[in-house]
Amino acid sequence: MSAVLDHLAANASRHVDELCAYLRFPSVSAQEKHAPDLRAAADWVASRLRGLGLDTTLHETAGHPIVVARTLPHDPAKPTFLVYGHYDVQPPEPFELWKTPPFEPRIEDGNVYARGSCDNKGQHLAHIHAVEAYVRTGTPLPCNLTFLIEGEEEVGSTHLYSFLPAHKDLLACDAVVISDNGIPSLTHPALTYALRGIVALEVRVDGPDRDLHSGLFGGSLENPAFALCSILAGLKDSKGRVSVPGFYDDVAKLSKYERAQMAKIPFNERRYAKFLGVPQVTGEAGFTTNERRTARPTMEINGLTSGYQGQGSKTIVPSWASAKLTFRLVPNQKPSRVLAAIRRRLKELCPPTVRLSITDGHGGEPYLVAPEGPLVQAGLKAMSGGFGREALLMREGGSIPIVSAFRKHLKADTLLLGMSLPDDNPHSPNEKFSLEAYTKGMRMAALLWPELSAAVRS
Ligand code: BES
Ligand code: ZN
Repeated sequence: MSAVLDHLAANASRHVDELCAYLRFPSVSAQEKHAPDLRAAADWVASRLRGLGLDTTLHETAGHPIVVARTLPHDPAKPTFLVYGHYDVQPPEPFELWKTPPFEPRIEDGNVYARGSCDNKGQHLAHIHAVEAYVRTGTPLPCNLTFLIEGEEEVGSTHLYSFLPAHKDLLACDAVVISDNGIPSLTHPALTYALRGIVALEVRVDGPDRDLHSGLFGGSLENPAFALCSILAGLKDSKGRVSVPGFYDDVAKLSKYERAQMAKIPFNERRYAKFLGVPQVTGEAGFTTNERRTARPTMEINGLTSGYQGQGSKTIVPSWASAKLTFRLVPNQKPSRVLAAIRRRLKELCPPTVRLSITDGHGGEPYLVAPEGPLVQAGLKAMSGGFGREALLMREGGSIPIVSAFRKHLKADTLLLGMSLPDDNPHSPNEKFSLEAYTKGMRMAALLWPELSAAVRS
């Protein structure tokens, strides 16, 4: 193992150069014009894996290609692990808020700034470098590895969902490893054993068949914007709980052990509020901020539109109003069951004076892997070793819906070994990745395979 770690240390500057090369592809999956850039990024990572001697295929889909690379020779006597990542990135807009252009990586104060740096190119490239260190030093891996790098994660992984069941044998594994998430700090690394799920929908309220003069008609009919606001207000109570009958029915209770683990993560409420730019924090009564943002279900309004948005005023009763909503779910809530309950509640809240329409959006199941189990314990050891600090356990509020599909089709649990820091700005302007997290993440990735292999064998 020391040869592997020495190799990583000796190649640190090349690792940074390679990350910058990867970050130069504007692989924005949400924007059609970038399809060639997605393919170029896929080609780059595929040839990187092929160069290490892995059996690598670029699988065509009706969307962006999926890269699968397997270590050779495949030894059936050894366990097999799947490393998942995504080469697509979120749109960089608004450009004017970036200090330097999003696809021209800039190194400053020990960070690399670029769209996709933490989410997710830097994190899965760290895993590739770790495997490279094994290969180049002639150190045998104690397991078989399969890399699965897709290009549609940021737009719902559509084609990966059909690819999985069709390629069960190719992707068969004992466990999945994902580094597409965060840690509290470099001195408090933490393994993520749970993710929230999600239900997305759009609600629209239609009133008069055109915008009306608010002086001539106002007061004689329902204002759709007002109706929508009161419907939305009816979805949450004064204690910060979602007022949808049945919403909390399936929520798994947080165990004492989990709450104790979570409480070990240092947290300063004033600093957190300052980081967010809000005067004070709030949320569901009876839970800490970290519990609220990772282990409790929530409802958010993501977008709200009605009436005149241009300069100056326009005195109208708008014809319609609409809102984009997402609910984050926790184990064991079921997206379809929750969605049905939300639809019922929306209909109940809607006055008879307007017409309500609801459009279902994407959904994803919440995820949990037993924190006391052998896989998680092995992951914790690798994380502690890589970061040089005791790794803690945490839940994460974001969603990676594909992990439930891994469980369903591959019958494999997923370990989430994040490398991203809380101020990395994924999905925001000036996204960054800490070079120290990158280095430590590579060490963790190298230490991981012996730990996981031993855990699976025992
Ligand atoms: N990597 C993130 C999700 C994430 C971030 C998980 C931090 C854990 C910690 C991923 O790229 C993402 O943004 N997912 C979306 C999924 C959604 C669109 C279904 C999310 O969580 O909003
Ligand atoms: Zn993302």
